Amino acid sequence: MSLTHLSPDQKPDQKLDPHAVPATFRARAEALVAQMSVEEQALLLSGDGWWQTHGIERLGLAPMVVSDGPHGLRKVVGAGLDGSVPATCFPTAPGLAATWNTALAREVGAALGREAQASGVHIVLGPGINMKRSPLGGRNFEYFSEDPVLTGHMATAYIQGVQGEGVGTSLKHFAVNNQEFERMATSSDVDERTLHEIYLQAFEIAIAQAEPAARPWSVMSSYNLVNGVHASEHRELLTTILRERWGYDGFVVSDWGGIHDRVAAVIAGNNLEMPGSGAHNRQKIIDAVRDGGLDAAVLARITAELVAVMLLAHDRHRPGSTFDAQAHHALSRRVGAEGIVLLKNDRKNGGTVLPLATGVKVAVIGDFARYPRFQGAGSSQVNPTRVSNAHDELVALLGADRVIHAQGCDGEGVTNEALVAEAVAAARAADVVLVFAGLPDSYESEGFDRRHIDLPPGQNRLIEALAAVHTNVVVVLLNGSAVAMPWVDRVPAIVEAWLGGQAGGGAIADVLTGRVNPSGKLSETFPVTLQQTPAWPSFPGRDGVAWYGEGPFIGYRHCDMREVQPLFPFGHGLSYTTFDYTAIRASADRIDVDTQGTLAIEVTLRNSGTRVGQEVVQLYVGERSPKVVRPVRELRGFAKVSLAAGESTTVRFTLGRRDFAHHDLGLHDWAVTPGTFEIRVGGSSRELPLAVAVEIEASRASRPALTRRSMVQDFLGRPGGEAAYAEMLQALGLGALLIPEDPEQIARMTPDQLNAKRKGDRGALAFANEMPLYKIPAMSGGTCGDARIDALLRQFAV
Ligand code: BGC
Repeated sequence: MSLTHLSPDQKPDQKLDPHAVPATFRARAEALVAQMSVEEQALLLSGDGWWQTHGIERLGLAPMVVSDGPHGLRKVVGAGLDGSVPATCFPTAPGLAATWNTALAREVGAALGREAQASGVHIVLGPGINMKRSPLGGRNFEYFSEDPVLTGHMATAYIQGVQGEGVGTSLKHFAVNNQEFERMATSSDVDERTLHEIYLQAFEIAIAQAEPAARPWSVMSSYNLVNGVHASEHRELLTTILRERWGYDGFVVSDWGGIHDRVAAVIAGNNLEMPGSGAHNRQKIIDAVRDGGLDAAVLARITAELVAVMLLAHDRHRPGSTFDAQAHHALSRRVGAEGIVLLKNDRKNGGTVLPLATGVKVAVIGDFARYPRFQGAGSSQVNPTRVSNAHDELVALLGADRVIHAQGCDGEGVTNEALVAEAVAAARAADVVLVFAGLPDSYESEGFDRRHIDLPPGQNRLIEALAAVHTNVVVVLLNGSAVAMPWVDRVPAIVEAWLGGQAGGGAIADVLTGRVNPSGKLSETFPVTLQQTPAWPSFPGRDGVAWYGEGPFIGYRHCDMREVQPLFPFGHGLSYTTFDYTAIRASADRIDVDTQGTLAIEVTLRNSGTRVGQEVVQLYVGERSPKVVRPVRELRGFAKVSLAAGESTTVRFTLGRRDFAHHDLGLHDWAVTPGTFEIRVGGSSRELPLAVAVEIEASRASRPALTRRSMVQDFLGRPGGEAAYAEMLQALGLGALLIPEDPEQIARMTPDQLNAKRKGDRGALAFANEMPLYKIPAMSGGTCGDARIDALLRQFAV
């Protein structure tokens, strides 16, 4: 049987209706703002307290309510940060991302949207889509992945889900927000290419490439500075890139307390300050309009962008909505189970320890089995409607007589002789030992970064002690980001269960018992040691600067480039069945991405095991002999596929120009360098059995315009360029280099003379080729003066 699956929509060059907000609301907003005084406009641009905007009663404009996100609703009751309405706590972003299932992300978004409607919330503050630059990032538990393509598509689906229920989202944190240390005062200093290829790409996918209905109503600017400018007042980010290049027309909200200079922020494109600062910043806006520092037309436009979304939000609000808490709990369990990654499941004596065989007796060890860590701490902390734990769920599935429990260690991972001895005794009485470990709250939270990637020493000690007395030890991990596993070779099975949400206990029980066949894949690289990671040892940036010296090489891009063997690679995850990748076909072996549209890639996949299962088919693209330094290969498509035992399917991907492009520093835009590209497909970034090579051409590729900073050699390859190049060399007195060698003269030279000549020529040529044009007037002694250089630049500009 053959099915067709489409990879997530990736047609960046296709121009869609560029609006997040329908035209009628924009027109109504403009008409309303035209009736507002400067004072009223300034009032609207700062919140009314922490969780709502102001309204303008005399014009019938009601306030708009916002609440965190992202993995459940945190509608705060009362003042401050504490106490929120009961809401379903879904797995946090790494668990959702590990499903690689966009349909599931859409379902989670829709559930969240329904809960927001029921609580009178107009905008959910999420999702958070920053890149996991280092495993130490304190908010990694809240972010999807180290890869922008996976992140962008999961976020798009989530946004579609929420907004399909008539509730807005706020895509955060824009941009380059990757560390918690001094998060309001540290500048993320990143080069232009890395910024676009890694740190902005997920935002671009969710904003510029999504269907209009999936574009977030709002974008949240981040706390940090980007290359020395506060993100909340970064005109290039908030206007040039977001609005002018990506066509965004929702509103930008500051992160809470992220405004630095309010007037500069308004001018840069920041619409709403949160929380409200009362008269403090409002007066600054009013004064700036009076003093001429802020154009009244700019204020009106910034206000109208916000008002348009307020009108949209009220239009879509459904008063009196309810939601089915039971169904949402069940969904949370389903997502939790699908995000669980089976990292290891060794085969011995013809079988594997997981799934648990019928009738086995298990020892369940560790406090997390009873009191799980199922979400992170900080602004995303949800007040769950209920919480399940793996111990009780296993008892329910296996029977109380099949489950022995020992505490092993406490919630902070602290153990002692007596607890270890008790755990060892429990293990000896069981067929399989399930030991629950992971990161305690004190290790991982918004507000601070991790200092290392180790588990608590007590947990490591406990695992080692159990592995010493039992051959069937399964480690179950609850953590929001990668951890080190010094005992990896001493246990036969490891299950990564993330911060699995309120139903995470049931999800773990489902996977351990085989009720659910695991299909999660890592959305981040697990390193062996911290020293193996690209941002070490300069993470976190201190003294106000985080220098992103590793460029685009984070996560698997780093490992592949530097041939580092991680503990578990990006995209890795096992199943209780097996999959064979048997064939790959490209629709062409040569394609001009500028004129011939897209390239179709088809692969054949077979479930070669004995159970129904799901596989995440991953497609990576790399250039064989790249002309620019770029990652060995990058994820460009993925598809989640379900197959019955023995069943085969065809998975189809569509690749377009952008899938082969890099961000060009001369053009300040995406560009394709023609060449041979290799497309590889498989089940993990390190297991890509299918490969096909395609010649990529880009006939309309433009070249950066020449400037006074261009090099002499940049004339070459342009119409008329050879003559201009020759003129430069002549002017420099190096015209002899243009004359082909005379074979007779060469024949008369001794080897030493020839060597000396060639050495001299090479040096002289490099000297001329790599000389910026602005140096020519002086270096040619005026032979080729400024006027001539300007004339050449004009000639080559056309
Ligand atoms: C966080 C945001 C959050 C906001 C409101 C900030 O501290 O960085 O992610 O949405 O608070 O709680």
